Amino acid sequence: MSPEKKRLRVGVLFGGRSGEHEVSLASAASVIRGLDPDKYEAVPIGITKEGHWLVGAGAQKMLPEVLRGGLRVMMTADPTDAALVRLDGSGSGQRVDVVFPVMHGTFGEDGTIQGLLDLAGLPFVGAGVLGSAIGMDKDVAKRLLQVAKIPVVPWIAVQRADWEKNPETVQQAVEKKFKYPVFVKPATLGSSVGMSKVHSREELAPALNLAGEFAMKILVEESVVAREIEVSVLGNQDPQASVPGEIVPHREFYDYAAKYLEQGTQLLIPAKLLPKQVKKIQKLAIDAFRSLELSGMARVDFFLEKEGGKIFLNEVNTIPGFTSISMYPKLWEASGIPFRELIDKLIELALEQHREKARTKYQIELPAGAGGALEA
Ligand SMILES: Nc1ncnc2c1ncn2[C@@H]1O[C@H](COP(=O)(O)OP(=O)(O)O)[C@@H](O)[C@H]1O
Ligand SMILES: [Mg+2]
Repeated sequence: MSPEKKRLRVGVLFGGRSGEHEVSLASAASVIRGLDPDKYEAVPIGITKEGHWLVGAGAQKMLPEVLRGGLRVMMTADPTDAALVRLDGSGSGQRVDVVFPVMHGTFGEDGTIQGLLDLAGLPFVGAGVLGSAIGMDKDVAKRLLQVAKIPVVPWIAVQRADWEKNPETVQQAVEKKFKYPVFVKPATLGSSVGMSKVHSREELAPALNLAGEFAMKILVEESVVAREIEVSVLGNQDPQASVPGEIVPHREFYDYAAKYLEQGTQLLIPAKLLPKQVKKIQKLAIDAFRSLELSGMARVDFFLEKEGGKIFLNEVNTIPGFTSISMYPKLWEASGIPFRELIDKLIELALEQHREKARTKYQIELPAGAGGALEA
């Protein structure tokens, strides 16, 4: 590395207040390893489960160490001086040039952090406020996908408050629309947390109560018997789709245990599909990326019905898992983009998106003398 070359300081946000805190640590460690040291300097920024922000002090390289003993900071929302300001009152703020939020779920993937970064005027990797919020809400996402004529599994959305006030009406609505089994899931969560497969009426109320612990809105969905196919999308205005991969869970469905606790789930890359199925799924993934207002990256997950071969879009993940064995980077690797190059492209896309945002006028120039009329 030539000393005169300025390296970009990349703030890697990890941890966070969601149920996916631990998953984030694994993803962030691999993102940091993937940053080309000739071009980038990683600044690990950990958010504890309580919501404290900590930056690694010099020697602290391991992420759990940063969370235990890093320096308490806060990020200012002032774009003229966007910095991580130390809360102990000592020293000036530490600056970063671009942020890579590697936090899954609530307060990371849902637009909240993206809002703060927008206020601070910092470029960041992945979807913006709107795309992140849409991607996080399975009900809103499905409604928009329907408008774009992208097939989704039939569902109803139940407000938790309605379920608590009128459980019988909700049960009737569910049974009028669906036959058991059905899937019940919180509208705004990932990692299969709070989700149940409901086989009969007796299981419905406990499933709705459980999902209601994790979200204000609950989805009840028809159960499909399907293969699970995933595609990685990368880009801003001209998004590209990777080869599809397949998840083969060893349990009844791809639940939390199958995702993180037990071995046995298989990742098949590429998925065994007909060329025309590949083309169709890739097109749907790109259409979805556009209709849901996404940018940078997303993993788009599909169901492919075992009988009849119908394709449904299940969900999008705007900050997918990023460990070295995660589907998102693996699919790009299989499509010709190795991990380090992928991270590089994502940062380029973040900077490009930022430049595009910066072209927008946010203020209007008042004609001379007009200010007076607006004075209170
Ligand atoms: N309607 C459904 N029919 C069949 N399986 C489903 C359905 N919905 C969810 N699943 C199973 O549950 C898993 C997690 O559901 P998903 O909606 O993807 O939530 P999460 O955001 O937590 O990943 C899926 O990967 C699949 O195995
Ligand atoms: Mg999923």
